[in-house]
Amino acid sequence: MLLQPPKQIISQIIGQKSNSNSASQGLRGEIKVPADKSIAQRSVIISGIASGKTSIKNFPNSGDPQTSLRAMESLGVQIEKSLIDNELNLIVHGKGDSGLEEPNDVINCENSGTCMRLLMGLLSGHKPNFFTTLTGDQSLQKRPMKRIADPLRSLGAQIFGRNGGNLSPISVIGQKMKGEYIETSIASAQLKSALLLSCLNTESAITVKEPAYSRNHTELMLQQFGAKLEKLDDLTTKLTPSKLIGSDLIIPGDISSAAFLLVAGSIVPNSEITIKEVGLNSTRSGIIQVLKSMGAQIETEVLSSSIGEPFGNLTVKSSELHGIEISGSIIANIIDELPIISIAAAQAKGTTIIKDAEELRVKESDRLKAMANLLKGLGVKVEETHDGLIIEGLAGKPFEPINSDFEAGHDHRIAMTVGIASLRSTKPLNLHGAEWANISFPGFFDLLNKLSS
Ligand code: S3P
Repeated sequence: MLLQPPKQIISQIIGQKSNSNSASQGLRGEIKVPADKSIAQRSVIISGIASGKTSIKNFPNSGDPQTSLRAMESLGVQIEKSLIDNELNLIVHGKGDSGLEEPNDVINCENSGTCMRLLMGLLSGHKPNFFTTLTGDQSLQKRPMKRIADPLRSLGAQIFGRNGGNLSPISVIGQKMKGEYIETSIASAQLKSALLLSCLNTESAITVKEPAYSRNHTELMLQQFGAKLEKLDDLTTKLTPSKLIGSDLIIPGDISSAAFLLVAGSIVPNSEITIKEVGLNSTRSGIIQVLKSMGAQIETEVLSSSIGEPFGNLTVKSSELHGIEISGSIIANIIDELPIISIAAAQAKGTTIIKDAEELRVKESDRLKAMANLLKGLGVKVEETHDGLIIEGLAGKPFEPINSDFEAGHDHRIAMTVGIASLRSTKPLNLHGAEWANISFPGFFDLLNKLSS
């Protein structure tokens, strides 16, 4: 896909060179982003093992949630779908605490780490001898599963796979798990969720302590379905084996998708974008805090909450950004937003240092490498370190690419990051694999065009 800088933005770039007060129009509009993929995947997985019906409103049409939906169908869960006012609604007929059916074939988790890892946990403890094999696409088959398999094995799971059980295809043979106290060595919500889901059918409670508190959507969703769950302290969660009962849910907009527009609205002059009904869970909203500390103008209007998840409207206006250091416990909160934050950093004044983010190397692609390549290609000075990036910002000057061919590399967030970068580029960018954006944000590129026309 050839990403042309919008006309107004070209004239703005040219105008800025001769006259910094040029006032051409930036990105403007009131929009909605697709529903949150993390919450959606949990909604369909957890409702599938609850007893009774669950109604899910605003289920996203994006790749990963649809993958989890199909995975649950292949485990025997009946799901009715209806499209009302362009919104997909589901009725899930839950199979109860040990009612899933062994699928005839492998379960394809496609590009979704969340689907594979949550199911590894759930299927480990669903019922004794329950046999399943999980596989994925080229990207997922390269991603490490030992981080999930080993802690699950310590609770009794039987998990097999390539490379000593580290790489998919992964086979799981269900066991009676033993709920215990377990400390994880990485702050990963996928790991925490897998552990909690593996112990729904045991006799003893499981307690998980993380090194930093990761997103808590699984905990909130389990509570919504009636599970007995307690947060013992800032890092520790205890789940007592519980029967789950069907519920009614509405999925809010995905803040990780909104993040692209928050950065676009900040870096494209004369912009004002309102993003409606976005999830504002405090374990995910670090992007607002980070952009604000870089000087962004973002207003938050909290509207209500669903599944214990607050949601509201976000309004962003363009502003001059400055570099900051981003490290420590905030990293888990903004792990999916770091690629687009690095575009904000490249447009900011001064240096931005990103540290403690080595987890980015094992996402859908090696995102530290991908961002370093992208920024270098855009003519930005960047250093890739073992756990982060050091970015010399252009202080609002447009990108003058020395390379304009970029590859999404099976990674939706990299595809969309290139899309936002093109809004500040003096030359068109050629993006290979733009369709990967559909994993979390179908219609992303059309929306960008709409906002800038
Ligand atoms: C997710 C957790 C994060 C995140 C991923 C979705 C989830 O991964 O990067 O996109 O839905 O639990 P980790 O838990 O491995 O950090």
